[in-house]
Amino acid sequence: MCGIVGYCGPKPAAPILIEGLKRLEYRGYDSAGICVGNHGELTIIKKKGKLHALDAAVPDGLQGYWGIGHTRWATHGEVNDLNAHPHSDQSGRIAIVHNGIIENYGALREKLQHEGYAFRTETDSEVIAHLLSSLYEGNLEQALKRTCAILKGTYGIVAMHQDEPDQLVGARNGSPLVLGIGENEMLLGSDVTALIAHTRQVVYIEDGEVVRVTPNNYRTTDLRDRRIDKKVDTISWELEEIEKGNYRCFMEKEIFEQPESIRRAFQGRIDHEHATAHLGGLNMSNRELLEIERIKLVAAGTSYHAGMVSSYLMENLARIPCNAELASELRYRNPIVERNSIYFAISQSGETADTLYALRELQRKGARVLGICNVVGSTIARESDGGVYIHSGPEIAVASTKAFTSQLTALYLYTLLIARMRDMSWEQGHRFIEALESIPALTQSILERHAEVEALARKYCQAQNFLFLGRGINYPVALEGALKLKEISYIHAEGYSAAEIKHGPIALINEQTPSLFIVPDDGLREKVISNMKEVKARKGPVIALAVDGDREVAAIADDVFSVPRAGQYIYPFAMMIPLQLFAYYCALELGRDVDQPRNLAKSVTVE
Ligand code: F6R
Repeated sequence: MCGIVGYCGPKPAAPILIEGLKRLEYRGYDSAGICVGNHGELTIIKKKGKLHALDAAVPDGLQGYWGIGHTRWATHGEVNDLNAHPHSDQSGRIAIVHNGIIENYGALREKLQHEGYAFRTETDSEVIAHLLSSLYEGNLEQALKRTCAILKGTYGIVAMHQDEPDQLVGARNGSPLVLGIGENEMLLGSDVTALIAHTRQVVYIEDGEVVRVTPNNYRTTDLRDRRIDKKVDTISWELEEIEKGNYRCFMEKEIFEQPESIRRAFQGRIDHEHATAHLGGLNMSNRELLEIERIKLVAAGTSYHAGMVSSYLMENLARIPCNAELASELRYRNPIVERNSIYFAISQSGETADTLYALRELQRKGARVLGICNVVGSTIARESDGGVYIHSGPEIAVASTKAFTSQLTALYLYTLLIARMRDMSWEQGHRFIEALESIPALTQSILERHAEVEALARKYCQAQNFLFLGRGINYPVALEGALKLKEISYIHAEGYSAAEIKHGPIALINEQTPSLFIVPDDGLREKVISNMKEVKARKGPVIALAVDGDREVAAIADDVFSVPRAGQYIYPFAMMIPLQLFAYYCALELGRDVDQPRNLAKSVTVE
């Protein structure tokens, strides 16, 4: 989604803004712009399309040491140069960038037009520039506070005024804003990736707060001008983690990082002596953990699929009713919060609006909501009542890969903890830990055979439609495989329970529609084989993800990729790797923009 960067300091602002925007590209965008201030004059340059178009439009040596930049993911108004940010008031003295959606912009626009303000764009954001102008009495920070008191909706805003040089002001309500404290320079960004090349010292701005920065100073206040003392956090990410290195794209890098990211998710959290897990961040006593009677996993997209997989594990091993639910649905169906139930909000970014609002609604009803997040300091991580960081490192590609397997790892640890307080014996716990610790080597051995998956992708990538089929704990893996394929290759793919195809989707089977079956050697293997035969009988091409040495499956399927034999609960990890690779190689073969697929955004901060 949209990205924000702001700079004031001793260096020319334009290259820093463009570089910051490049680091935010991964969020998905369709246009970009910057505003640079110099000698009391603001220069705005904005362009539809990718950043190289903006870069080319910026005059060499553009002077100015303070400015703001934005990548836009259109919500109100078409994608064109005019609708791109920054927006200015009609005098051209104020410029703003905005993330989020202003819900009362229609009424405000009408009122301001009535007062004589001329609007140039179709965006909701432009209203902020005119409102600031109408409320300006010589102090931009105060004008922003008055503006925020009138705005309804979500925003991360950064603004500048030509008469107040070397100063930026920002405000937040529901859309992230981070301050970076450098040496004689300050930066503002919608996430830390925009700042990390310049500083590791950051301050997270909260909803209802306003920040004013000059090169050597910052101050945070609330809308009533009361001073707020903020904690300075240190970012632990390394710059290389947000760079591609020798990989062709971030998605490839992130797929191949999984043995390490999975290891990081369980490192230091396993108690071998007692065959259980340590998850200090949960903020729950053993007594409270024991009293849990129901678990709900709330999330969107890939994170929801991780929740679905884990719900099978939780019910089987801990014998606690557990289900995953789409955050966007939960929020609006007046959820019933039962006593002794616990909720998890699962989110890689920790900023997904659907998940965040579901968390708030649940907390409002008195629920205890724990977070499973990747991004440290993200809103969900901060607002949840405790939780577990998955420590995947930054996930830059829009399509989530390593976060999925790390979310699973965190939820598997939580299941171990809860199960060991109930029916699971020390010996079973010990075997579960052994299985968990085998995952990095297992996934590594599968990744080393990437060329086999690449050959399959080459053979099948011209298909228009795909079915992804699995059962039991591997049913959500099929859903995730289909999601990966459609989002980055644009091939239509449906994920289904293999058992369900006879209830409808089998009508789609023909010689041009491949079905990809997940067939581990678990208790459902025979059933899945029957489903494969049903597809073969209708001349549908069949690709099987099976287990080494499964000759029966090999005899039925047209193509097989086999994974090493593993514990039944470990197959979701083993099967996910070839599915991610398959989607990736199909997209590559079709010449797609793998890291920034069309219409998609990382970190979906609007509902
Ligand atoms: C798919 C994908 C999305 C996200 C979803 C939730 O590859 O990345 O489906 O999983 O938008 O995002 P987070 O986990 O950041 O809440």
